[in-house]
Amino acid sequence: MSDLLPLPRPLVLAEDRLVILDQTALPQTERYLELYTPQDVFAAIQKLQVRGAPAIGIAAAYGLYLGLRPLANCQSPVPASAVMDRAEDVARYLRSARPTAVNLAWALERLLSALRHGLAGGLDARELVELARRTATTLLEEDDAVCAAIGRHGLELVRRVAAQVTGREIGILTHCNAGGLATAGWGTALAVIYMAHAAGLPVHVYADETRPVLQGARLTAWELQRTGVPVTLICDNMAGALMAKGRVDLCIVGTDRVAANGDVANKIGTYTVAVLARHHGIPFYVAAPTSSIDMELPSGEAIPIEERSPEEVTTIAGQRIAPTDVDVWNPAFDVTPAELVSALITEHGVLYPPYTEALQTLKLRRP
Ligand code: MRU
Repeated sequence: MSDLLPLPRPLVLAEDRLVILDQTALPQTERYLELYTPQDVFAAIQKLQVRGAPAIGIAAAYGLYLGLRPLANCQSPVPASAVMDRAEDVARYLRSARPTAVNLAWALERLLSALRHGLAGGLDARELVELARRTATTLLEEDDAVCAAIGRHGLELVRRVAAQVTGREIGILTHCNAGGLATAGWGTALAVIYMAHAAGLPVHVYADETRPVLQGARLTAWELQRTGVPVTLICDNMAGALMAKGRVDLCIVGTDRVAANGDVANKIGTYTVAVLARHHGIPFYVAAPTSSIDMELPSGEAIPIEERSPEEVTTIAGQRIAPTDVDVWNPAFDVTPAELVSALITEHGVLYPPYTEALQTLKLRRP
């Protein structure tokens, strides 16, 4: 499916390395980085060279495989239990790279669970390492299919809004980047937009620039331009004025973690968009693959929010814009309460409030 998208792949799995598109260099430079060890993968995740909840999950899973790979090539044979011990250690390390997106823990747990089964089934060390590689590859392939399914379900919501809009474009506001760059497929929020565009609906996207790291300006605007979807870039503080002018018909964003009551963590500024959307009577949709749903957390209050370096706020593109030593607060994510979310679009279909009940119907179990 993702092969149809005219975009460079953010993640390429090679035998002995993970190749990533360096998202910190976009849109000026399309540069690939080769990662050979869990330490390389950890650093790339922390620096946002690979980013977006599904993409960091897959990267971490492959990082775990890379950490096990030397055990398959040892001179003297290694016991299978040593592979499992090493897997648990490397997974613990990689899980700590970023705290908010539950996909990271979810993907690593998928791999560990496959290895536990393999160990119980009598696989030797070499076979376990090969199982880790295959499972990480499966995660990547599954994500492509998940994105496509989210796109199809979300398309029906866009059609519904489009039915009430005649003779003009359908204005869709998005925040951050929940596109092909953030996944192994068409993205989550942007998959819906790509499908609507491909279906001939006259969509026009407004991309919030998304300070401090500018995923909207650097990545979403670039992705949509490359794929021929009409896009207008706005600063984050322009969204309210745009809505007041009647130019936004729906909002759609991705997520890093959905709690069991439907509270949604996503890039800082998402909450502001949701409040504005409610004030203007605009639907606010969240594209949420089940890999981002955490049924173990009762509400968004329990979601760990990453705080990042003050330099992200005091500088833009390496240029200082604030006085030296000024106090800075830099949370990378915020939580939008479930009551502001019009629908959650999962790969299994669209969920409506009350989410506590709706999410139960997915019968999600951790791997
Ligand atoms: O800090 P980032 O760029 O990793 O944040 C990404 C987001 O907030 C995305 O909206 C989210 O991960 C969903 S990506 C499909």
